[in-house]
Amino acid sequence: MNVLQKVTTLNELWDARSILPEPVGLVPTMGFLHEGHLSLVKRACEEVASVVVSIFINPTQFAPTDDLEAYPRNLERDAALLQESGATLLWTPTPEIIYPPDFQTWVDVEEITKPLEGAKRPGHFRGVTTVVTKLFNAVQPQKAYFGQKDAHQVAVICQMVRDLNMPIEIVTNPIIRERDGLAMSSRNTYLNPEERRAALVLSKSLAAAQSTYEKGERDATTLRRIMEKIINTEPLARLEYVSCADYDTLEEMSIISKKALISMAVYLGKTRLIDNVVLE
Ligand code: PAF
Repeated sequence: MNVLQKVTTLNELWDARSILPEPVGLVPTMGFLHEGHLSLVKRACEEVASVVVSIFINPTQFAPTDDLEAYPRNLERDAALLQESGATLLWTPTPEIIYPPDFQTWVDVEEITKPLEGAKRPGHFRGVTTVVTKLFNAVQPQKAYFGQKDAHQVAVICQMVRDLNMPIEIVTNPIIRERDGLAMSSRNTYLNPEERRAALVLSKSLAAAQSTYEKGERDATTLRRIMEKIINTEPLARLEYVSCADYDTLEEMSIISKKALISMAVYLGKTRLIDNVVLE
């Protein structure tokens, strides 16, 4: 089995990168790895010769009101999990490496960042696209792996890669769920036991909308209402949005006539959870 190599500075990364067997895959993460991340690493190990994983809690994608310091971290455990999963190289840059004091260049994707997550989290996607561009430039992978749980993020990154002619294939893996249906997320660790139970309302409401769709319903408003109604039955849940949107443009639909994304953001206490299902 490979020994996982660990690097921090750009020079260390570039030295290690220059002798990696090609093709190289990148799994960008913010750490506190769970089965969702590891499924991306495992898939990358099957598809490319070298798998680079980055762990960087990107401050520019958090709102000033978000508690960046409280974001869960456990680098030692993450490194052990990556070693077990067969990753080749772990890159853990510091904030100063990614954002030196004179940093002044941002990547801004326009229309597709406006609805859904973009509308609720101003500036979030500018932080994501900027850091992902920097990670891509530093690692120069042929493939990059992202989870479908952040469906809006995936759509934005695919748009950016097309618009900027980045020679990188974006690969997405389906959402990995706990046995009871809760989508895996590093943020689930914030939930107390009552909130953890109440959080099932997200996957339940999506499943109800999906099964109604599968029975032939094509009215998007009906599906949105089904999801809203179920979320509102849970006293601990505070609905931020539900959506039934065109999968490619993320514009809200009235009649579902092509591939669609049903998605939502819901607060349980102070924790904001997102989830989605693709309607083929
Ligand atoms: O999905 C995430 O964990 C982050 O948004 C990413 C892609 C690593 C960028 O910071």
